[in-house]
Amino acid sequence: MSTFKAPKGTYDLTPPDSAKYLAVREAIAAPLKNSGYGYIETPGFENVELFSRGVGESTDIVTKEMYTLTTKGGDHLALRPEGTASVLRAALEANLHKAGNLPVKLWYSGSYYRYERPQKGRYRHFSQVGAEAIGTEDPALDAELIILADQAYRALGLRQFRILLNSLGDKECRPLYRDALQAFLRGLDLDEETARRIEINPLRVLDDKRAEVQKQLVGAPLLRDYLCDACKAYHEEVRALLTTAAVAYEDDEKLVRGLDYYTRTTFEFVHDGLGSQSAVGGGGRYDGLSEMIGGPALPSVGWALGVDRTVLALEAEGITLDIPSTTAVFAVPLGEEAKRVLFAVVTRLRRSGVAADLSYGSKGLKAAMKAANRSQARFALVAGERDLAEGLLQLKDMESGEQEPIALDSVVETLTSRLS
Ligand code: HAM
Repeated sequence: MSTFKAPKGTYDLTPPDSAKYLAVREAIAAPLKNSGYGYIETPGFENVELFSRGVGESTDIVTKEMYTLTTKGGDHLALRPEGTASVLRAALEANLHKAGNLPVKLWYSGSYYRYERPQKGRYRHFSQVGAEAIGTEDPALDAELIILADQAYRALGLRQFRILLNSLGDKECRPLYRDALQAFLRGLDLDEETARRIEINPLRVLDDKRAEVQKQLVGAPLLRDYLCDACKAYHEEVRALLTTAAVAYEDDEKLVRGLDYYTRTTFEFVHDGLGSQSAVGGGGRYDGLSEMIGGPALPSVGWALGVDRTVLALEAEGITLDIPSTTAVFAVPLGEEAKRVLFAVVTRLRRSGVAADLSYGSKGLKAAMKAANRSQARFALVAGERDLAEGLLQLKDMESGEQEPIALDSVVETLTSRLS
């Protein structure tokens, strides 16, 4: 061990476990790539103001959890705590919305940073795969995204997750609800910080996890009863499309997300095997965000799934992903001359697309065969001076244990045909 450790709230991905993370990222991305979403990558940091305006001045993310810094040049930057504001900023900057092809559908995969109290499933550096459909108001898009996330989780083998669905209304009806909720909350017996929250972001109070608060919230006005006709019709259409696609969801009137940009459809994917950090993914519609960051009106919808928590969910369900071994052929040279010959063979195998590796250093036969085993290669290629003198190599089938001599001349052809 070195003097240094990974910083608090972070962890490293190392083989063989890291393969799971790659597989999860790929499994989430696959249905997106298959549905017209193009890949986007944005910087790991942005101007602080993008997030304070976009995610919301009063959110925990902005007030408590951002890693901010001032550069030597005087720029105020923040490590990105989420992806939506960045992706929208980048789409606007590149004028993707003006190419006459709305919605702009984008997917991304990367690292995000939040200064949170670390615990299982909650880290300061974590990883998301996300998708955003920008510039179109259409319930079919909201439904599409929920269906694609469901498809990704199912492809991974996950079953014990639930989809919570809500509508947060729009700029017409939400203010009316907000007033009614504030009036109700002001009459309760709450601590000072919560009382302050009533004035800034009353919907967040509904999300309070404490039993003594939840007890008082019985009888609170429900947003459902305040939705305007347009929001109601929109939400009904999203629900109907999900039902037609046989994607089960639960209506959750109390679902409030931790970011302020949401309007209308909001949803969360929760996994029942994860304890308190049960949200494996979440998202919704954010029709006003573009204007909040200085762009034109661009109604949009998206989600992000947490890779770390998805891996924990797989573990909770006892699912082992079928990750094929990467090495197909492992070469074991016996002696200096054999090493030169096999090094050349391995190079040729790799150039013809066969995944091959070699025993490096000067290991004896036993240690080298152990390395071959560990690589999970399908075949081992063993070469000693005597075989080589006759133009031969020994090919060992690592599954059956059988070994046979093959011609050095045609080793690449032999192996490509055996592996196909
Ligand atoms: P979010 O709900 O803040 O939404 O994060 C999405 C997912 O990221 C969570 O459900 C969780 O799995 C994972 N996550 C968040 N924080 C942590 C953490 N500290 N440690 C581990 N995993 C974490 C967003 O970020 C929105 N940008 C989603 C979205 C996209 N909405 C519209 N488009």
